[in-house]
Amino acid sequence: MSWFLLLFYLVNTIIARTQTPLLANIADEWGLNAPPNPNSTGHLVFDTVSSLLQHWPNTQYHTGHTIVPGTISTGTLLYHGRGDAHPPTASEWVSTDPEFGRLFCTKIESCWLLTFIATRPLRVLYFDGSSATKAPDGPMDTQDLLAWGVVSPECANVSWEYRRMERLCSMGGFDAYVRMQLNFEIMLCSFTDGVQIASGSHLEAEPIFPHHGYAFVHSSKWHDSYPGETRIQLDLTQLVSLYDVELAPSLVAHRAGQPRHAHRLLGIDERDTAAVLERVRAITFGPGIGSGVDWQAQFQVIRHRYATRLELLQLTLDNGAAEHAFHQLQILLTPYRLRSAIPPPAGRDTAWAGPVFRACAQGHTAFTESMQAAFTASEWLLLSTMQETTREICRVLVRMWADGVLALRGSSAIPDSLAPKWKTEVDALVGWLGWSEWTKCRPACAPDESCYLPGAPFSMEQWNVTEPRCIRLIEPYSGLRSLASARAF
Ligand SMILES: *[C@@H]1O[C@H](CO)[C@@H](O)[C@H](O)[C@H]1NC(C)=O
Ligand SMILES: *[C@@H]1O[C@H](CO)[C@@H](O)[C@H](O)[C@H]1NC(C)=O
Ligand SMILES: *[C@@H]1O[C@H](CO)[C@@H](O)[C@H](O)[C@H]1NC(C)=O
Repeated sequence: MSWFLLLFYLVNTIIARTQTPLLANIADEWGLNAPPNPNSTGHLVFDTVSSLLQHWPNTQYHTGHTIVPGTISTGTLLYHGRGDAHPPTASEWVSTDPEFGRLFCTKIESCWLLTFIATRPLRVLYFDGSSATKAPDGPMDTQDLLAWGVVSPECANVSWEYRRMERLCSMGGFDAYVRMQLNFEIMLCSFTDGVQIASGSHLEAEPIFPHHGYAFVHSSKWHDSYPGETRIQLDLTQLVSLYDVELAPSLVAHRAGQPRHAHRLLGIDERDTAAVLERVRAITFGPGIGSGVDWQAQFQVIRHRYATRLELLQLTLDNGAAEHAFHQLQILLTPYRLRSAIPPPAGRDTAWAGPVFRACAQGHTAFTESMQAAFTASEWLLLSTMQETTREICRVLVRMWADGVLALRGSSAIPDSLAPKWKTEVDALVGWLGWSEWTKCRPACAPDESCYLPGAPFSMEQWNVTEPRCIRLIEPYSGLRSLASARAF
């Protein structure tokens, strides 16, 4: 059997196994009118996983739901600003960019910037979201669940930071914990094992604000979007997501009816907490486990294929141009528009489009399923989130396309009256996906400006604003409040 035939055979075996009977119920299973259950979280896992280690999406949704192991490679430089030249003797913070490490110096007169180098791969655990933000409304939930076994909003302030770090470091198994607040910081458990000092520089005496504050904001831009902070390599095969409804079913009721930015871990029950801790304790480092699928690359393929084109579709429909929108739908669905999918001569039924929907929805995932023998629990989650997400994207797009095909029966043009209906559908899809590509400064910022999403530590009072704005990165500065009135690090 040629490899092509083998592939064809495998795909068909899987399709046959997951859908019985094969064709009889296609209209039921691939009907275009059933939206996802409002409690389902596949799209949320998809978005959080494909946003890991990126500043922009993790500022937009500041409560993290993901705990994932990773490594920092040998040779990586780490920065620590302090009031003297002595390397820390206990756990302390380091940053991946000196623009952040410089801000750890609290005294103007005496600032030493110590640079360390990793002498072996460092085993880390990363908390997504704006997990270094000391705010009681969610960003510290996942790490507190690990540190104390309960979510502790009353401890989400600067006074508890050393105790939190000591608790995490005493768990064992990890050299460090990675968090984000504008830029990435690392709680390093030991400065004598796995790192050595590379340099210690006594810096010029300067206040933090405004120059260093703005440099810090500037440095956050370097990790805004995929691939994000590349000095940390994550192992998604051991990822733990609190959006996993099988791992943490007690959170489903707490999220019901809540907007996404209000999702957090308050209310998780003891059984689910124990299950999460068990998954974290089982994390191992060493030879790779799992199927070998590059999940992050797979997820990015889907984001790339749809993010800008859905935006273009929205814009086209805003202008009422249904005909142009239909052409875009045709292009979007090109690989799935089967010659055999032909509408009946009359009627509004869309069952004939079911095979197109199925081809689109399974286009990225059908073969991945054949690797399942080697899947970890995390990989099962990743596969199902990819399936749920593409299924809904395809359902909405195929439904609009089918509308257009039906409208073209007996007519040579798509009526513009379809535009408002389609606009509502695309808007709902874009809202459901919630991807950060669509949160941007409009119009785009000037070269001496930066698009900034208000949040910690400089704009806490505007934390819930989802509209970013341009701020100037050189004098005369604009947009940030001084650190003196901002929340401490
Ligand atoms: C931090 O929270 C504790 C209560 O858990 C409180 O006693 C303390 O004053 C707070 N510290 C700051 C700096 O707000
Ligand atoms: C969503 O979850 C809530 C809480 O568990 C439940 O009451 C509700 O029926 C669920 N909704 C659906 C459509 O399953
Ligand atoms: C969000 O911010 C607006 C002001 O920008 C404020 O009126 C509103 O109360 C805030 N909402 C929440 C939930 O904090």
